[in-house]
Amino acid sequence: MPLPAIERLLKETMGLNAASIGSSAIHRAVQQRMRDRDIEQPGDYLLRLRDSPAELQQLIDLVIVPETWFFRDRHPFNALARYARESWKQAGRSGPLHILSVPCSTGEEPYTIVMALLDAGLTFSDFQVDAVDISEPNLHRARGGLYREHSFRGDDLGFRDRYFLRAEQGYLLQPDIRNQVRFHHANLLAPGFMSESPLYDVVFCRNLLIYFDRATQAQALQVLERLLHPHGLLFLGHAEAGVLAGRDFVSLEQPQSFAFVRGRKRVTDEAQTPPTRRRMPAPTQAHAPSEPPKPKPLSRPFADVAPAPVEIPACTPDKRGDLATATHLADEGHMVEAATLCEKHLQQHGPDAQAFYLLAIVRQAVGEPAEAEALLRKALYLDPGHYEALTHLAVLLTQRGDQANAELVRQRAQRSHGRRQDEAAHRADNA
Ligand SMILES: C[S@@+](CC[C@H](N)C(=O)[O-])C[C@H]1O[C@@H](n2cnc3c(N)ncnc32)[C@H](O)[C@@H]1O
Repeated sequence: MPLPAIERLLKETMGLNAASIGSSAIHRAVQQRMRDRDIEQPGDYLLRLRDSPAELQQLIDLVIVPETWFFRDRHPFNALARYARESWKQAGRSGPLHILSVPCSTGEEPYTIVMALLDAGLTFSDFQVDAVDISEPNLHRARGGLYREHSFRGDDLGFRDRYFLRAEQGYLLQPDIRNQVRFHHANLLAPGFMSESPLYDVVFCRNLLIYFDRATQAQALQVLERLLHPHGLLFLGHAEAGVLAGRDFVSLEQPQSFAFVRGRKRVTDEAQTPPTRRRMPAPTQAHAPSEPPKPKPLSRPFADVAPAPVEIPACTPDKRGDLATATHLADEGHMVEAATLCEKHLQQHGPDAQAFYLLAIVRQAVGEPAEAEALLRKALYLDPGHYEALTHLAVLLTQRGDQANAELVRQRAQRSHGRRQDEAAHRADNA
């Protein structure tokens, strides 16, 4: 089976790093396409793939990961609503707010953007949403607007009553919400991607870059930068914020939103740049993976990249409260303070998976992957099913070329995710 050649073709075309989903998943997809096409010899299938863009697209449709749901992670949509209401509208900008959701998968993300903005008091004429995905079947489902239970997760489902109609096969999104999104079939990495589009004020690019290697992430970011307004807002997935290290983005400072403003100054307030708002720190290792990481003392390890510290709250007897505060500080870009609070917490309360995980995120964000990896391993020693730690570790392993172990860790993460969903479903059944 010429699998490496097929993996290379997929990477060149759509950016997929085979290690991110595992070669076995690609192997299964290839076997299915060979059966569908009645092709027996793998070499013949490779030739078909090279000759036929339609066949390549069919394979792409099988290897993509379409996982998505409405109000996924919730915080980014709260941050967007707040930004639109408080910054955009008040700035008296002329014309609508242009928003891009790429990749949009089956439409849950761009439709969530519409619902969140309407809930925030914007009207249909205040904004426009473009949504892009490489998979036409995904877009077909998105345009249809019919969704089943797995697109609705979490406890707060009030939006479903407000914006959906109960249908025989699920929930049908109201037409006016559907009409607010323009769907486009395109490949983010194709030359000339969206070259005719306006500059976007807001780009959502969540849960795509984790499937790319570092070079492809950089390529994708260049495309996003071309599309984004010079002071635009970029939303990434929670495991992807590290890719902005060294680029001209600053945190929006909205907890857990993973939203970053391009350029050093706010759109609405060119004259003021709060001192804690700063460029993402440059990675120490990103371009020189062979150099050993520079050891840093654990106390205030990021002092060199955090010129304006905020006051570090004292540890409290409430263990979870400390870590929630540390998460909040890290989300707002106060890396020194987040790390220091985690370290205090560890001194006071002993080893804790979430504290190690947070320290790892901070280390990753400042470009110290070796330290981040060691901390993730500590977190997983204490909590082997810690999903976020597993996904971050898989990304780190992929980035340093250890694809076999990345695959194993990814499988563990999938099992952990499955267990979490089962538990959530069980809780919902018992509620
Ligand atoms: C995990 S979903 C993310 C959906 C949504 N952004 C979210 O976070 O819920 C990943 C999507 O990326 C799409 N995709 C993969 N490679 C792509 C590419 N090169 N260009 C555009 N879309 C791509 C896949 O089709 C899939 O629907």
